Amino acid sequence: METPKKPALLKRYRLKPYLPRHVAIIMDGNGRWAKKRHLPRIAGHRAGAHSIREIVRLSGELGLEALTLYAFSTENWKRPRQEVGLLMQLLKQYLRNEVEELLQNNVRLQTIGNIQDLPAGIRAELKKSIEMTSRCTGLKLVLALSYSGRTDLTHAVQAIARQVKTGRLKPESITEKTIEGALSTRDLPEVDLLIRTSGEMRVSNFLLWELAYSEFHITKTLWPDFRTPHFIAALRDFQTRQRRFGGVESIVGSVASWAH
Ligand code: FPP
Repeated sequence: METPKKPALLKRYRLKPYLPRHVAIIMDGNGRWAKKRHLPRIAGHRAGAHSIREIVRLSGELGLEALTLYAFSTENWKRPRQEVGLLMQLLKQYLRNEVEELLQNNVRLQTIGNIQDLPAGIRAELKKSIEMTSRCTGLKLVLALSYSGRTDLTHAVQAIARQVKTGRLKPESITEKTIEGALSTRDLPEVDLLIRTSGEMRVSNFLLWELAYSEFHITKTLWPDFRTPHFIAALRDFQTRQRRFGGVESIVGSVASWAH
């Protein structure tokens, strides 16, 4: 996607023109960041929200099509009640403070995950921000909230089974496209790049189907420290990869969808 700032940013950061269309991030290490500073865990989450702000803005300016952030997993409900409550408050604050900035940057907010699990106040705030940004045509910012890749796949299987039961679909007609079309990410491009901060080598139940051919960039940087230079390093790393999608020849820069 071309944006007014893209050419200057590519030059400034010595990036090649083909960028990932869709970047997904597992934002990890907020707790360790806080612990190193003898601060409560919530201070790490608060600093993490600043990283989100910077990375969202840069992604929009660079013309990425989608940025999916793993903000709260279904497993995160197991954290102490106080931490969960504070995380929800932070999310609410983020939505309230950021909606103007999202509008200014033409960013459209979306969510994936079991939104019905979230407190009513958060759902209302989400609904408002989603509606307010619904006509934005730039970056799609996708917050994964109460998200589980396995649950999303389970819901997709249930939806497909219902179509089979009513006779609208034959089992032998089910293809990968049918499954893709039943996932919550159906209107997003393929995930080209997955970034995970804080050095853990796990997928943690994130986008299980969608990560099939993604490039992985794992950095030891903790999420609250992950800012513009780290994101640019991840994009540069991506641009060095030889993407073969299971074949033998690299298609870097040669596929229409890559060549923006
Ligand atoms: C993991 O750090 C991070 C999360 C639980 C999710 C990310 C949440 C934020 C960045 C907070 C703000 C979110 C929004 C949408 C405003 P961790 O606590 O697991 O870190 P640790 O592994 O070092 O303990």
